[in-house]
Amino acid sequence: MNVLKRYQGVQASAAPSSSFGTEIRVGDAKTLPRRIHLRVEQESGRFRNVSILRVAQGGVNKWFALDSICYHAGGALANGELSVVNGDVCVKCPVHFFEISLATGFRVRAGNGKGKGPAAMQIPSGVVQRMHEAYERDGIVYLRIRDDGYVESDAYAFRKSFLGSALDW
Ligand code: FES
Repeated sequence: MNVLKRYQGVQASAAPSSSFGTEIRVGDAKTLPRRIHLRVEQESGRFRNVSILRVAQGGVNKWFALDSICYHAGGALANGELSVVNGDVCVKCPVHFFEISLATGFRVRAGNGKGKGPAAMQIPSGVVQRMHEAYERDGIVYLRIRDDGYVESDAYAFRKSFLGSALDW
């Protein structure tokens, strides 16, 4: 199980873990920015790049957490525009425009950003981008890191530099 020892950019008030690693108190939901990029130290001593995105759906804020760096070729995925594909909220990588579902971590569309590209790439993949857990409780946003199994984005999760633009820390 992952243990969070240290993290940058958030208040340090971790609570004991349950299933997916330590609960990290990120901050007050009313004052947090729409995008938050964190570097979270894991048991191995390496820092994982994790981003939290706030998405308004039906007048309610939802929080999604994912590995910041794109599984495909190491782009700064978490800088991407949000899009909706078949009702699924996605983030579109600014490098090759793959669209990744924030609900599942699937690539749901690829190509040139207009859904044009090899037909096979328009079919949802399995999980390619690691998603973590971000949620709000009593007005506070929390994060839990998942590191079970292997997800393709793990290959880039700890890098300090990315393809294309850097994350805005
Ligand atoms: S690096 Fe993200 S789509 Fe290629």
